[in-house]
Amino acid sequence: MKGVFITGAASGIGLAAVRRFAAEGWRVAAADIDADSLRRNLADIDGVDALLAVDISDRVALEAAFAEADRLTGGLVCVVANAGIHARNTVLTITDDELDRLLRVNVVGTVNTLRCAATLLAGREGAAVVLTSSDQAFIGKPGNFGYGLTKGAIAQMTRTAALELAARGIRVNAVCPATVDTPLVEKIFADASAAGGGDIDSMWAEERALFPLGRTCTPAEAADAIYFLGAQATFCTGSLLKVDGGLTAG
Ligand SMILES: NC(=O)c1ccc[n+]([C@@H]2O[C@H](COP(=O)([O-])OP(=O)(O)OC[C@H]3O[C@@H](n4cnc5c(N)ncnc54)[C@H](O)[C@@H]3O)[C@@H](O)[C@H]2O)c1
Repeated sequence: MKGVFITGAASGIGLAAVRRFAAEGWRVAAADIDADSLRRNLADIDGVDALLAVDISDRVALEAAFAEADRLTGGLVCVVANAGIHARNTVLTITDDELDRLLRVNVVGTVNTLRCAATLLAGREGAAVVLTSSDQAFIGKPGNFGYGLTKGAIAQMTRTAALELAARGIRVNAVCPATVDTPLVEKIFADASAAGGGDIDSMWAEERALFPLGRTCTPAEAADAIYFLGAQATFCTGSLLKVDGGLTAG
């Protein structure tokens, strides 16, 4: 029996990853700060052994959640550090609060998850961690100053942690999606629309037109890449896997 710990499991990419691992017979520990959404969205998924309401930026609470997940799943071998937040800002407009929040959740929260995994998974057969970076590991995007810098940090921690944890038998890779159709992106477009930026359908159409494949990514496609890195890619470590429909290939 193999257990996987997935953060940000109540929505979007994390929820799709829960479905994918569970469909492959894994025992899933699903963690999210939003307890209500966890209960509501995961109720019908077989294979979920633990619903853990936890803030990844709280290291002590996260360590307790990992211990609980390890017990309830029968033993974790894979960790998916997926939870993250977005805010729109530029180098000129970012506030101290926004910068602090983005760093605390996306960087400190991901480091916390990685450190818990590094301790718990050491020496376990098939041990793997999948971090969640983005296309912004490779390109800059105006209006994403704070978010982009956190995703660049996650790309860098992937490389160094992969080297540092190889001797413990733990692979560390990152998935780097471009626009995925999730509540995170829906909120970005809704906020832009409310601020007078036009209608939401036109924004999606403009977004799709940016992609060589002519469309954005589905949560299931992002979860496929996570599953590949976490469960199948046994000779990959330190990799940044683009899931971007060709967006950053040019
Ligand atoms: N959607 C995209 O286009 C896209 C592209 C590239 C990377 N990503 C990354 O993928 C990840 C998932 O994004 P999504 O689009 O599915 O977002 P989402 O908003 O749909 O889901 C994110 C989940 O993380 C949870 N979360 C937020 N802060 C948390 C915290 N402190 N502790 C625990 N859980 C927390 C939320 O409650 C939510 O359920 C994020 O790291 C995001 O940056 C998303």
